Amino acid sequence: MKIAITGKGGVGKTTLTALIAQVYADQGRQVLAVDADPSPCLAGALGFPDEVRAGLSPISEMDDLILERTGAKKGQVGGFFTINPRVDDIPERFSVLYRGVRLLEMGSVETGGSGCICPEAAMLKTLFTHLMFRKDEVLLLDMYAGVEHLGRATVDFVDAMVVVVEPTRRSLGTAAQIKKLANDIGLKRLYLVGNKVRNDDEAKFLETETPGLPLLGFLPADMAVQEADRLGIPVYDHAPALKESAQKMAGLLASFERA
Ligand SMILES: Nc1ncnc2c1ncn2[C@@H]1O[C@H](COP(=O)(O)OP(=O)(O)OP(=O)(O)O)[C@@H](O)[C@H]1O
Ligand SMILES: [Mg+2]
Repeated sequence: MKIAITGKGGVGKTTLTALIAQVYADQGRQVLAVDADPSPCLAGALGFPDEVRAGLSPISEMDDLILERTGAKKGQVGGFFTINPRVDDIPERFSVLYRGVRLLEMGSVETGGSGCICPEAAMLKTLFTHLMFRKDEVLLLDMYAGVEHLGRATVDFVDAMVVVVEPTRRSLGTAAQIKKLANDIGLKRLYLVGNKVRNDDEAKFLETETPGLPLLGFLPADMAVQEADRLGIPVYDHAPALKESAQKMAGLLASFERA
């Protein structure tokens, strides 16, 4: 099962990814969580301890690996390099495992203008496609806003794309944009999750203003989320209300899984 999690900045993509990852891991499923955000935060939300995180480094920052696999130095523009480097060993070799969740950080690529293709971008693109073809039990992608980076492979292989929103018109506007972009590339299995919901009015607002996307559920606004971050512990352990909602969502998502 492959699930991509998107939405406007700061709406709670990483929080939701961490919760769902831990739900499936606790059910005994093999989970690969991919932090595809240029500034990675998923390890924090999962409460990975420092010693585990020390073994983690974003793929786009691994200069030697990029040189070895593409034949060119990171940042090189122009010249020759392999655009489909070997990546099949990367998910196992460069991820870390904690409480049943395997975590991989993609890192960021500086794009010097549109259409730039540099060795690290080739690496990430190939890795992303490889992830889509892998037979992981559960693959969760913590994305950054927008779907420009989603290609044909994603459309064909992602079981569900979850768009996280807050009870604000702005985040719903972004959700509508994501829906349009997703439809343009043929990605249809989109679901909405309302996060930081404080009361029935806010829940109702999201229900009535949804940009035509089926609602997967709500996560309540809860100061325990920030507190977990401050304490360096998993949101999953510290916010029972969110854990319970995430369990329901994970159950629904599993029922959408394509054979
Ligand atoms: N249900 C919630 N209740 C209260 N605070 C929340 C809740 N969900 C997330 N937050 C807080 O909102 C902020 C953003 O959350 P998070 O990092 O999960 O969002 P994001 O969409 O991944 O952000 P980014 O776009 O920066 O990657 C964090 O400070 C987090 O603690
Ligand atoms: Mg995030």
